[in-house]
Amino acid sequence: MLELDNIAAGYGKLQILHELSIHVRPGELVSVVGANGAGKTTTLRVISGLIGTMGGQVRYDGEVITGLRAHQLVKRGIVQVSEDRDLFGPMTVEENLVLGAWTRRKAAINEELERIFELFPILLERRRQAAQTMSGGQQQMLAIGRALMAKPKVLMLDEPSTGLSPKMTWDVLNAASAIRDSGVSVLLVEQNAAQALAISDRAYVLESGSVVLEGPGRELAGDERVKKAYLGL
Ligand SMILES: Nc1ncnc2c1ncn2[C@@H]1O[C@H](COP(=O)(O)OP(=O)(O)O)[C@@H](O)[C@H]1O
Ligand SMILES: [Mg+2]
Repeated sequence: MLELDNIAAGYGKLQILHELSIHVRPGELVSVVGANGAGKTTTLRVISGLIGTMGGQVRYDGEVITGLRAHQLVKRGIVQVSEDRDLFGPMTVEENLVLGAWTRRKAAINEELERIFELFPILLERRRQAAQTMSGGQQQMLAIGRALMAKPKVLMLDEPSTGLSPKMTWDVLNAASAIRDSGVSVLLVEQNAAQALAISDRAYVLESGSVVLEGPGRELAGDERVKKAYLGL
């Protein structure tokens, strides 16, 4: 289980996250939803060790992992897809995927590629094509596929729906559900609350760096405050 316990964090002296506690259990899909600037990306940066903490702990399976670097986290099975996807545009789809497998033995790579092509058939079709020639949704799938090449136990996704049509957003979020069903825990960060809550086992609503509501995804989607503030209802 991944646990953020009472986290305080920010940039320089500016504190953004306040007493933030969230957790993700094995096999769960958990969302953190909130407006632009609420602190969603900052939360993932704390887990990924990209920024320091002013207080609190990040734990994984009981071990304190606060401040561990990305490569140390990947070895423990914690992998993030960042907001800007970080693909190598001129390289092919398959080359980008293989880059995600740096922790793996060679023999495991082809097996993993096959599983990812099953999840995202479009990547198989386009495997020899440069990543930069693909649509936004396809690039998001590629970024997720590359993260899966590391065989994560916990996959963190930062706003995968950014720039995507509602239909493409469903395709990407349904893939996130399928990844959860395959036994990988998913921590999804989304401004797009309606679609994120619909697929989440549990969710947290973040406002100004604090959790203001939490509960099962469907319950939160029906909450009057959430409807007013985030679902435009
Ligand atoms: N590198 C940074 N330096 C200073 N402030 C930042 C930095 N990145 C984000 N912030 C501020 O932190 C707050 C939360 O940002 P962020 O975590 O990116 O929100 P979200 O991902 O929910 O849109 C915002 O007020 C933002 O301006
Ligand atoms: Mg963000």
